Amino acid sequence: MNKQLLDLFEQHYNEFLSGEQLSGRFQCSRTAIWKQIQSLKKKGYVFEAVPHVGYRLVGRPDKLDVDKLEKLLATERLGRTIHYYEQLDSTQTTAHEWVAKGAEEGTLIVAEAQTKGRGRMGRSWHSPAGTGIWMSMILKPEITLPFASQLTLLTAVALCRAIRKQEQIQIGIKWPNDLLFQGKKVSGILLESSSEDERIRYVVAGIGISANFTEHEFPGELKEKATSLRQITGHRIDRERLIAVFLQEFEQLYSLYQEKGFAPIRSLWEALSITLQQEIKVQTGSALITGTAEAIDEMGALVVRDSSGQKFKLYSGDVEYSVVRGE
Ligand code: BTN
Repeated sequence: MNKQLLDLFEQHYNEFLSGEQLSGRFQCSRTAIWKQIQSLKKKGYVFEAVPHVGYRLVGRPDKLDVDKLEKLLATERLGRTIHYYEQLDSTQTTAHEWVAKGAEEGTLIVAEAQTKGRGRMGRSWHSPAGTGIWMSMILKPEITLPFASQLTLLTAVALCRAIRKQEQIQIGIKWPNDLLFQGKKVSGILLESSSEDERIRYVVAGIGISANFTEHEFPGELKEKATSLRQITGHRIDRERLIAVFLQEFEQLYSLYQEKGFAPIRSLWEALSITLQQEIKVQTGSALITGTAEAIDEMGALVVRDSSGQKFKLYSGDVEYSVVRGE
């Protein structure tokens, strides 16, 4: 009945239909109609409900327009094949499946919503419909496993530059690859790789951007820690344009990396970093390291010096600041 009900509301867009009229038409109770409307709301449809008058459809879900994205693309290799889905468990999982089916480098998997979005360190990633950019890109770099963390930093630089360019906001990178605005997270990146004898077979770069969340769309536990580009800028984000700008930035940096190695990427990362020269705590699996974030080394590791002068090189972990900052 969901589909027929929606068709009827679409035929009468912006017009009230009474509960009585609807229950008569679909031979069901008004409660059943109310439930159907709630389920459409979850899919992003917006209804106005007025007691004794009825319901009217006043908004449709904001769907990503793949044709528009393809027209905006200025890349040669990346995003030339796009697989778009209304809903997936995780774009990461689907990207791995596409690799098994022979997908080429640069293939992009985008979903409107994820039901099992994955975050770093085994966490889940909240990814409801119409609110964000949830995508994974397949890469086939000619590198060995120890170099994979360099690609993580490269992805963060490309995304940070793309957001700064499109929205003119001063977001920065918290090591290794979270994007923050005034201490709140806007975006997360997850790289998963598959290797054989130390050689990387492929990498899936997963990018999650809180683009169009309104404050009440963040669940309670995230309200304090996260924000969206829409909240920062005060306007809806053009998701297709942001993906296109990101892919272009990424392609340029990826070519630079392939030609000149990690050194230029490292300088760009350092310039956008909000972690370096800060007093930090890093939880790395088993240990908690406290000290000053001194540098990124030539492999992409974070160099931290503790109060006794001992140096640590960290390849993954979660940074906490003694004093929270962000641009
Ligand atoms: C983090 O923990 O900060 C990384 C979050 C990465 C989320 C993105 S959303 C698209 C892709 N698919 C996933 O399941 N995760 C990544």
